Amino acid sequence: MKKPHTSNAVKNFTLHLHPLKINIRAIAFNRTFGLGGIAALLFTLLFITGMMLRFVYIPSAGQAHDSILNLKKNIIFGNLLRNLHYWSAMLLVVVAFLHLVRVFYSQSLFKERRQNWLYGLLLMFLVVSANFTGYLLPWDQLSYWAVTIMTNLLSYIPFLGDTLAGLIRDGDTVGEATLLRFYHFHTGLLPLVMVFLMTIHFWLVRKAGGVALPNVEKPQKVDTHPHLTYKEAYVALIIILALLLFSIFVDAPLLDKAKPIVSPNPSKAPWYFMGFQELLMHVHPVFGSFIIPLAVTTFFIAIPFFKYPELKPGVWFHSPNGKKITIVSAIFSAIFTFIFVIINDTVFDFSNRLADWQSILSTGLLPTLFYLIPTSGFVVFIGKRYKANRIELIIGIVSIILSAYITMTLIGSLLRGEGMQLIF
Ligand code: HEM
Repeated sequence: MKKPHTSNAVKNFTLHLHPLKINIRAIAFNRTFGLGGIAALLFTLLFITGMMLRFVYIPSAGQAHDSILNLKKNIIFGNLLRNLHYWSAMLLVVVAFLHLVRVFYSQSLFKERRQNWLYGLLLMFLVVSANFTGYLLPWDQLSYWAVTIMTNLLSYIPFLGDTLAGLIRDGDTVGEATLLRFYHFHTGLLPLVMVFLMTIHFWLVRKAGGVALPNVEKPQKVDTHPHLTYKEAYVALIIILALLLFSIFVDAPLLDKAKPIVSPNPSKAPWYFMGFQELLMHVHPVFGSFIIPLAVTTFFIAIPFFKYPELKPGVWFHSPNGKKITIVSAIFSAIFTFIFVIINDTVFDFSNRLADWQSILSTGLLPTLFYLIPTSGFVVFIGKRYKANRIELIIGIVSIILSAYITMTLIGSLLRGEGMQLIF
């Protein structure tokens, strides 16, 4: 029997993922920036490096930190392996987030794609959860206190908070049992669920007829192999090489072994949760860890289900008007959030000024309204000034939310020093 030609083997394999022919416009780089594919590549890298790390890592509070030191010092390429795993994980959070942003702004979440938007949101949650559970495993001062801060915040969720925090920690505080629980989540359950969801995610992309494209009369089609497959291979090679180089020169952080009675100053959450930690410095925990995140999540889930008179799937920012609204809203939100933080930290601290009020009002409802009223005014202004339709208004609101979270993340990560005081 004749052996299949290599190029046929590649073709056959890739056709499980792609159709035989593809619209030439779908493979233009600025359609997707390859972000979904890069996320899948990073997940694969994490899976492979994670499997290897398992041979050395010991999931016990007494030995976890030493096992990482052993990996770094005594095992050939051990440090490189750890760095690769760590930096791929951090990059995956950024890439999955950028992919979400591109899907939203390229209007690729409506009609036949809305179910996939929901799977995507679930995947985003899992990417962050996988990152967070892995964060604890080195059992150093950084990870121990970051996880302590974040799990304590869960307790503020009304009714269920303590049970949920206890369930995640497997106890009242972060300890031996938490480490074991996080280890099983990180190396077992979460990757398994992610593989399952990614399979559905990819299948739904195909079912929707590939990536969303603006309507054209006669789409020009080309063979998927080599046109798309070669592009994918180049991008994969560049990402792997860049990660390798970065991991050779930059070590993943590792502080002293965790000391459950001595917290570092400042104690900070992982960078992707810094926006939450910053938010919690300005509003009551019930608002910061429950009401506001719940409202934002519900809004993101609901976006593709609202009724829009006019939809243009695949058109970036919907229209030139939408692009202007994105820019103006993002700038407004960054400046207003920054001013809000400064005012609340220096001139008007709600909790001190209104000490005799119930805290849920003085530090919860009041600052939330203080933020929400001008922002809503701005959305009304946008609606009038740009004669925005419904979809353009949603674009404005999402830009405000994303820009506010990014601004708070930057403030929390870069401008907070000892005692979480602002430093410039
Ligand atoms: C591990 C995380 C993820 C992986 C591996 C992944 C992978 C992919 C891939 C390969 C595509 C097709 C091409 C592309 O857009 O690059 C895609 C499309 C899509 N993704 Fe994701 N994705 C992930 C997370 C997300 C997130 C966080 C969202 C948003 C909430 C999302 C929503 C979508 C939607 C709606 C499409 C269809 C877009 C279109 O048709 O143009 N995905 N994803």
